[in-house]
Amino acid sequence: MIEVCEFNFRYQSSSKVILQDISFKLPKGKITALLGNNGAGKSTLIKCLNRINDFKYTSGKILLNNEPIETLGRQEISKLIAYVPQSNYVLAQSQQTSVFETVLIGRRPHIQWKARESDLVKVEETLSYFNLNSLSERSIAELSGGERQKVFLARALAQEPTYLLLDEPVNNLDLNSQHEFMYLLKKIVAQQEIGVLIILHDLNLALNYCDEFLVLKNNELIASGDSNILTRELIMDVFNLSVDFIDYQDQKVIIFNTKKKEALNELR
Ligand SMILES: Nc1ncnc2c1ncn2[C@@H]1O[C@H](COP(=O)(O)OP(=O)(O)OP(=O)(O)O)[C@@H](O)[C@H]1O
Ligand SMILES: [Mg+2]
Repeated sequence: MIEVCEFNFRYQSSSKVILQDISFKLPKGKITALLGNNGAGKSTLIKCLNRINDFKYTSGKILLNNEPIETLGRQEISKLIAYVPQSNYVLAQSQQTSVFETVLIGRRPHIQWKARESDLVKVEETLSYFNLNSLSERSIAELSGGERQKVFLARALAQEPTYLLLDEPVNNLDLNSQHEFMYLLKKIVAQQEIGVLIILHDLNLALNYCDEFLVLKNNELIASGDSNILTRELIMDVFNLSVDFIDYQDQKVIIFNTKKKEALNELR
């Protein structure tokens, strides 16, 4: 389990507190959605969980399997945690690596000197799982945004992590691919008991596929728990949006009911 206790964080360049008194537990075998307004601190939190952010400017604790994360080495952390950042475009453009090589990089925490046959087999398996075999030799710089997104998820899973941190992974995906991605994620979580923290902006997608929810608003965690925490009041408070809920095939669905919709009707 990843456990966050009364955690505070600010960036070196600014005195502004970006994460304020955050406490939650990220369980294994579940998908936890991290929701919140732009600039709330979602990406910052994920980078703290992965110890990418500098721990000099923190207080409180992040425990990874009961160990304070700042006492663990990079290699130890990357054996347990895989991370897919919010934007991989710049990263991909600067690299001339093939899809196969990119996914092989995911094996790095497990490789001593040289990739073994078993590492190459793992990469092949992962590429098949994501239907990426036909792209294997292509340069990642020359893929579409959605194809690249799948390659980076494949790389994260080739790492065989216990926890997977995903920052807006469905951003570049078409509607069908978004659902395919979330479905695949759910299947992997069920099969491998991985704990997933995923930042999403689409609340219905989150309701469809996620088990637990964390809601950040302006640097504070204002709600956490199962789907019952997502109320009309909370959504109004965080996103300034008026919504209704309907039940459709045992599924809670959010209907947006905004003034903007009325304004659009007036335009017609
Ligand atoms: N490297 C940095 N140095 C200083 N401030 C930063 C840095 N990165 C982010 N911030 C600031 O921290 C705050 C939270 O940013 P963060 O990227 O965590 O937001 P977010 O919730 O992920 O937003 P979004 O939904 O837009 O991706 C913002 O005010 C942002 O300007
Ligand atoms: Mg972000």
